[in-house]
Formats: sequence, structure tokens, C-alpha cells
Amino acid sequence: MTKKALISLAAGLAWLLLMLILVPGSGRPSDFSLFLGRFHPVAVHLPIGILFMGVLLEVLSRRWSRLEMPVLVLLYAGAWTAIMAAVVGLYLAQGGGYDTGTLAWHKRLGVLIAIAASAACALKAWPDIAQRPATKQEGHGYLASVGALVLFVALAGHMGGKLTHGDDFLTRYMPDGLRALGGLPDKDDIGMLQLEDPTATSTFDALIAPVLSDKCESCHREGRARGGLALDTQESLMAGGDDGPVIVAGRADESALVHRLWLPLYADDHMPPEGSPQLTVAEAELIRWWIDSGASFEVMLTDAEVTPVVRSILDSYGLDEIKTGIFALDIAPADSNDIAALRAVGVAVTALAEDVPFLQVRCTDVDVCTTDDFVRALRPVARNVAWLDLGRTNVGDNIFGIINDLPHLTRLYLQQTQITDEGLTSLEGLEFLEYLNLFGTSVGDAGVDHLADLPALRSLYLWQTSVTDSAVAALQAAAPNLYINTGLSLEPVVTEEPEESE
Ligand code: HEC
Repeated sequence: MTKKALISLAAGLAWLLLMLILVPGSGRPSDFSLFLGRFHPVAVHLPIGILFMGVLLEVLSRRWSRLEMPVLVLLYAGAWTAIMAAVVGLYLAQGGGYDTGTLAWHKRLGVLIAIAASAACALKAWPDIAQRPATKQEGHGYLASVGALVLFVALAGHMGGKLTHGDDFLTRYMPDGLRALGGLPDKDDIGMLQLEDPTATSTFDALIAPVLSDKCESCHREGRARGGLALDTQESLMAGGDDGPVIVAGRADESALVHRLWLPLYADDHMPPEGSPQLTVAEAELIRWWIDSGASFEVMLTDAEVTPVVRSILDSYGLDEIKTGIFALDIAPADSNDIAALRAVGVAVTALAEDVPFLQVRCTDVDVCTTDDFVRALRPVARNVAWLDLGRTNVGDNIFGIINDLPHLTRLYLQQTQITDEGLTSLEGLEFLEYLNLFGTSVGDAGVDHLADLPALRSLYLWQTSVTDSAVAALQAAAPNLYINTGLSLEPVVTEEPEESE
């Protein structure tokens, strides 16, 4: 190893320190900077591997002194590659989107690795260069620099893992025993919401606040409100940012906050910015739902009106015990003889889900459900029927006689049947009805007029009915959260012509 080599290494270090000052930490990086930056994850493996070999040979060289020279070469190469990796790292950091605290430490450690490797290299070569081979063993300074090097590489690697993979990267698949020692929950409980008392928690506190705090507040809080937006208090959340309010209660589709979550990742406005830990689809869905249902801080989890999507998200969080709608009711399961009798009439009867007392009933024959036998067989299980599918059958208005006696009906399919406006007037008592399909019926304005009064109704299908645009508009105004499908958007995908069901 020559003096020249050491001087070039010193120059390399000086360059790195200069770049540390010159490459701005944030702002709009050029595409070329971003291009360079993307080499960091590949480049870091060079110094790690090379320095690891160097340290390994250093240990072995205590026995076999022939290995001395390779150690020196490896330290030299390690120092240079560390400098290069650190420089491209500065460009990568410029792209933004990393947790700033972790990033600052990772940067410092990266620079320290380059310094420690250079120092180790210089201290190793020095006795040779100064022509004092008599003092064969290197001094304490050398050993200290190698020790520091190992420590810095381990720490920087850990921080780097945290930046790209999140906090739990190392512990995610750790055996439960070890996890318990570290005070972590069992692996099976990861992703489960741990609520002290789910029945006494507001939807916001249980489902929304933790997401904002995990994924947004590093950049959006009092004192560090990017875009003028702080998300750490209820007041600041509702106050909005530089561009005004980010939440329109009841209208997720008009809320900037929701809009940004669902933008494609590469879009400049996407939140959290690319590179930051992203929301899961479930989390983004929950935020959308919370805003759509009024963005309230008070509504309790148990009182929330849960959509089917949210229902399955709650289940996946282990919140199956939070019951809403008909599932909160204590209903006895239907008698199996009654179910058998109903099936004997010729309709399909299945449980709505495992371990729930509710049934879905489907007419598979166009005429069976018009018969008295059907009505008679349905009565004993009336409290258990949640979904009733009469679509494409010959039923007419007299079917409403029995429909009105199904207190827990949530979905009703009447598409392409003979029902009319007259029959629809009698739906008013169905307090749990969420879904109503009237596609291809002769229903008109008079029939849908009072559907706005159905408290739980969320989806209404009116394609190919004689309901006018103005009646749809009036209904929408009266029930803003109701999804009304008039078929326009569906038209290209439907290939089948509605047929006369006579
Ligand atoms: C790594 C930092 C960072 C994270 C994490 C982050 N943001 Fe942002 N956010 C910004 C920056 C910077 C801006 C301003 C530039 C812009 O408007 O895109 C901004 C702006 C916004 C705005 C627009 C504010 C206004 O009125 O102009 C919204 C809304 C927003 N963020 C929502 C979120 C949400 C919700 C999350 C969490 C899911 C989040 N952000 C996470 C950095 C971040």
C-alpha cells in the first residue's frame, strides 16, 4: 500500500463530506439524481461484503500472517465502495418519503462507516509506509477503528432495513418465545386490533387515529405540518392544510385526504409519499368509510353503520365480536325441519355465513315462489331470512304480503319480476334492508318516491325501469349516502337483453 493510495482515499472522504453539504436533503430532485439514488440499495452490499471479508481475514491473519496483505486491500476497497454507496445514498434520500429520524441516523452511520474504514486502512498501512515493520502489531487505534467499523455497519444496516421494510422487519417471524421476551404480541395476533374494551371505543379512536398516527404524523403534526396540515388532533384534522379542509364529512369522494390515498403510488400528490410506509387497502378503505359515514369522533364502534367491506375488515382485525345491524340481534337459529320443508317446495336455502342464524333464500324456478306453498313454508323461518332472491321469477305484488313479514331482510332481489309501484309502498317497515334490486321492472317514480325512508338502504338498482332522472335526483338528494344504479355505467358490460319473464 502506497502513500498515494491513502491520499486518494482522503480525497474520496473529502468528496463525500462535500457532497453531504452540496446534495440538498429535500426539494425537487432531478430525474438523474433519482436515477443515481436508486443504485444505493445495490451499492451498499459491496462495502458490507468486502469489509466483512476484511474483518474476517484480519482475525485469521492473527494466525496466518500471510493474510495481512489481502486485509489491507479489502479495507481499501471497502472504504472506497462505502464512499460511493454513501454518495448515491444521499441522492436516494433526496427523493424523500423516508422516516426523517431514522434517515438522519442512517446517513450519519453511512458516513461514519466510510471514515472508519478509511481510518482502519490508514492505520493498518502506516507501519509499512513509515518503514517501521519492527512494530509489527498495529496499535490500539487500528483495533478500535475495526471495532467501530463492525458496529457502524451493523447499526446502519439495521436502520436501512427499518427505512425500507418498517420497524418489525426483523421481529416479524421471530419465534413467539423470543417475541414475548421483547414484549411483542404473539405472531398470530399481529395485525389484530388490540382494544381494551371494543364496546366502549369510538370508531375514530379504534380504527382511524392509529392509522394517522402510524402513517401520517411523522410529516403532519403540530410543529412539523407539511403542506400546512397537522393530523394529530381532531381540530387540526378538521381544519385542513394550505389548500383548505381535507375532509368533507359524509363525502369521501370530495375529501382531499381520501383522494390522495387512492392516487397511484407514482403520482406526486399520492400520500404517504412513495418510499414511506404505505397504508394497506383495508386502512384506506376504513378512512373512506369513516368520512362517508359522517367523520364523527363520537360514534361508537358498536353503533357504527357497517358496510359489507368494512364488516370483513373488522373480522380480519379480530373484531368479530363487534356486531352491527342484524348481527347484533339475538335470533334463534331456524329449525332444521322448517328449512327442510322450505327446500322441499323447491327453493334454495343456505346459511348466510357460518355460525349465524340468518338464511339466504333463492327461487330457482320461475313459478315456485308465486305459490301459497312457498309462502306457507317461508313463514316459520321468517325471522331468519336475511337475503331473498326472487329475481327473474313470475312473482307480482302479492309477494309483498310475505316480504313485509321478514323483519330482518337485508337484501331483496326483485329484478325482472311483475312487481309494480303499488307493491313497493309496503316496504317501509324493513328497517335493515340495505340492498334492493328493481332492474327491469315496471316500477316508476311513484314507487321509489318513499324509498328514501328506508333507514338502512345503501344500494338501489333501477336500470331499465321507468323511473325518471328527476325522481332519481330527488331520491339522491333525500338520501345522499344511497348508491343508485340507473344502469348507464353498466350498459357496455351487460351483454344479455332483459327478457320478458312471462
Ligand atoms: C414523508 C412525509 C409525509 C407523510 C408520511 C405523509 N405526508 Fe402528506 N404531505 C407531505 C408533504 C411534503 C405535503 C405537501 C406537498 C403536497 O401537497 O404534496 C403533504 C400534503 C398533504 C395533504 C395536502 C394538504 C394541503 O392542504 O395542501 C394531505 C391531505 C396529506 N398530505 C395527507 C396525508 C395523509 C392522510 C398521510 C398519511 C396517510 C400523509 N399525508 C403522510 C408529506 C407527507
